[in-house]
Amino acid sequence: MTKIIDGKLISAKLKEEVKIEVENLREKGISVCLAVVMVGDDTASKVYVRNKKRVCEAVGIVSKEFILNANISQQELIDLIDLLNKDRKVNGILVQLPLPKHLNEKDIISSIVPSKDVDAFHPINVGKIMLGEYDFLPCTPAGIIDLIYETGISIEGKNCVIIGRSNIVGKPMSMLLLQKNGTVTICHSKTQNLKEITSKADILVAAVGCPNFIKDDMIKPGAVVIDVGINRLKDGSLCGDVDFEGAKNVAGYITPVPGGVGPMTIATLMKNTLLAAKLQNHN
Ligand code: GUN
Repeated sequence: MTKIIDGKLISAKLKEEVKIEVENLREKGISVCLAVVMVGDDTASKVYVRNKKRVCEAVGIVSKEFILNANISQQELIDLIDLLNKDRKVNGILVQLPLPKHLNEKDIISSIVPSKDVDAFHPINVGKIMLGEYDFLPCTPAGIIDLIYETGISIEGKNCVIIGRSNIVGKPMSMLLLQKNGTVTICHSKTQNLKEITSKADILVAAVGCPNFIKDDMIKPGAVVIDVGINRLKDGSLCGDVDFEGAKNVAGYITPVPGGVGPMTIATLMKNTLLAAKLQNHN
């Protein structure tokens, strides 16, 4: 019988822990603040940003939103980030991705001071993760590690297969699984014999961005299956990268969409913002 990994429940525990610590800081006169910057009006991004604001409010973190016109210049955006970098009341800065094509994502992320980079996307923070000496862990991969932990299954020595090599999920995910002594394979659009590789995975992380891509015959019986995909179908409903109905007859553990990885990403963002405030205030 496949067990459903309840990201809503697990993230609720994490948020409760953050809320208590935020309250403790407030009693010491320190308020915790996250600045979220969004450029343009991408529908999916708007939903994410709204959810971030809602969760900030729930855990007592002050959220400052900057919704900017889609044709803002690179320099104007960097100037805003610079103000936020210098604003002592702002502990964390998040620039919602993707950015419009005329903006250079790499340079914009690099303009965030690493101590406020709660996404852990800045090259310095990425490098620290590679070295295993990080302050912030990237939100989605760290949330996934927590989900796997809750299954009680150890990552050590396991065949871990990630599908997708993005900077946000695939690449940092590989590092975190490696740090837990997993044997890690990253697959991508050019991978040959994908099914052969995925069907040997004890832990399978799907971050493809393609609805129902992973079918039951690609999954090892009993595997832990983590679905990072959030795909909106024509009828408006959400579905993951894993064909849930088929997979749930084969997997040992599986995350649902929605209610799996998504809530963990935001809860980890709250944890990182709290950590940023603690580090900046030497607490
Ligand atoms: N777009 C999709 N996921 C993320 C994320 O985790 N952080 C940011 N900043 N943008 C995203």
